[in-house]
Amino acid sequence: MSERTPMIEMRNVSKHFGSVIALSDISMKVFSGEVMCLLGDNGAGKSTLIKTLSGVHRPTEGQLLLNGEEVRFKSPAYALDAGIATVFQDLAMIPLMSITRNFFMGREPTIGWGPFKRIDWKRADRIAKQEMAKIGIDVRDPSQPVGTLSGGERQCVAIARAVYFGAKVLILDEPTSALGVKQASVVLRYIAKARADGLAVIFITHNVHHAYPVADAFTLLKRGGSLGSFRKEDISREEVLNMMAGGAELESLDAELAEFQRSDQQDQQASSANTTPLSRASNA
Ligand SMILES: Nc1ncnc2c1ncn2[C@@H]1O[C@H](COP(=O)(O)OP(=O)(O)O)[C@@H](O)[C@H]1O
Ligand SMILES: [Mg+2]
Repeated sequence: MSERTPMIEMRNVSKHFGSVIALSDISMKVFSGEVMCLLGDNGAGKSTLIKTLSGVHRPTEGQLLLNGEEVRFKSPAYALDAGIATVFQDLAMIPLMSITRNFFMGREPTIGWGPFKRIDWKRADRIAKQEMAKIGIDVRDPSQPVGTLSGGERQCVAIARAVYFGAKVLILDEPTSALGVKQASVVLRYIAKARADGLAVIFITHNVHHAYPVADAFTLLKRGGSLGSFRKEDISREEVLNMMAGGAELESLDAELAEFQRSDQQDQQASSANTTPLSRASNA
């Protein structure tokens, strides 16, 4: 395992914004065909980390390696050309544009030559429909606005686009955070498919329950620093939860809720003994 070359690697990366240290000495390896879950509280540095990988920010210190070679991206376009596709938290999609246009984003297939060159819409629509069908989303009319899709389906358009255009690394910043359970599971299933297709996937979430089923490894960030990377076989869901900021708070919240419940029951027992049904209903 250790002889494998990571598809993407960070070595001792730091990122400062003036006096703010957003990332400090982060090292992380992500392999093809695996999902790395990046976990951490708000402000931990997750978005900064992936923006550094995807060419939005340049690291203040440290190196990025793609398939063993050092890379420096001048802009996100360079990272994309190198095969790093990122679906940002603030999803870059135009709701009124068609699904097909959002799928191709300027890379539509063309037909004809020279002055007669134009977009081959028939083919573009067919490909968009086909690629969405592969992930189990039946788009009847790909020329309909992308805004008519659900949040989960929209995430899937962005992921399908990355896979179709041959990305080697797929980075997803909190794709499931605004979604209900059912839609989140659609996205999670597609993340699993991208892994099966051999992509190296970096999946950011603060929801351990979304992360755990699809992850091969975890990296935990806290206040810009790394608490380390862990293979799934070496760490339980509870351990992940406890290491994240909030794990301890959740436990004490559990205890508090149990306490509330107990006193509630006592109240109810007391009130059912000496109040009329009417006054109880108005309390509820
Ligand atoms: N462009 C920026 N300029 C200054 N500070 C920033 C910038 N981007 C992020 N930060 C700071 O870096 C820290 C990490 O932010 P971020 O990476 O967005 O965290 P996360 O995505 O884990 O919630 C925060 O303290 C944030 O305020
Ligand atoms: Mg973020």
